[in-house]
Amino acid sequence: MSERLWLVVPAAGRGRRMGAALPKQYLALAGRPVLAHTLARLHQAFPEARLCLCLDPEDDRFDPAWVPFARWRRSAGGDERADSVRRALEAIADEAADDDWVLVHDAARPCVRVDDLMRLLAALRQDPVGGLLATPVADTMKRDDGQRHVVRTEPRDGLWQAQTPQGFRLGLLRRALDEARALGREITDEASAVEALGLTPRLVPGRRDNIKITHPEDLALAGHILAAQRDEPRSRPGHEHEERP
Ligand code: CTP
Ligand code: MG
Repeated sequence: MSERLWLVVPAAGRGRRMGAALPKQYLALAGRPVLAHTLARLHQAFPEARLCLCLDPEDDRFDPAWVPFARWRRSAGGDERADSVRRALEAIADEAADDDWVLVHDAARPCVRVDDLMRLLAALRQDPVGGLLATPVADTMKRDDGQRHVVRTEPRDGLWQAQTPQGFRLGLLRRALDEARALGREITDEASAVEALGLTPRLVPGRRDNIKITHPEDLALAGHILAAQRDEPRSRPGHEHEERP
């Protein structure tokens, strides 16, 4: 495979919903910062990849010792997550080619499993567009009237919750994010920018424990997930490549 793999990790947010003293990527989880866990998982799956880490330029908490990659650089975060990712693509432009794959993964998802990461990349390489880890919606979905009363129950058939990583070839991702910005579209993930071009990113079923630490209770939950993952028996060889429904 001649094209390179780039990992873009947006870690320049403030964690407002978390309401902690530190941005959530720096909170301690099982004895290490959240960001260090996330980078370790990515490195286990893709040791040869090149990393671009989006950091707030005013942030002095980051420690390069958390980065296990041999080839990595940092880029300045932007106002919104999509701006941070766009800047990262600019920061790698000198070395990256339009055909290179870029996987974007939230710093705040430290529980992503190595086999899901590898299955995602294998699936993307078969797809002309790219795609994302996602899980089918499990709960019954309610639509409110704006005043916390239910107006109807939405059918959940065919509904998925988007996770990260989300991966696309660099040229396509840059075009999608540039166009979303030019048209003033608000996007919260890469896939929605690509969808707006009329393309259909592939949904790759991932495990539900790839949570994004967002609210205060999520940090303890992530701690339990990491402990449970450590205690799991190792999966049978080959099992990790099965597609889940
Ligand atoms: N992120 C970023 N640059 C921004 C905003 C977010 O790099 N301007 C990163 C965050 O650090 C996080 C990921 O994008 O790893 C997902 O965003 P989110 O969960 O919304 O994190 P925050 O923006 O930090 O949290 P909040 O929205 O609650 O303030
Ligand atoms: Mg945010």
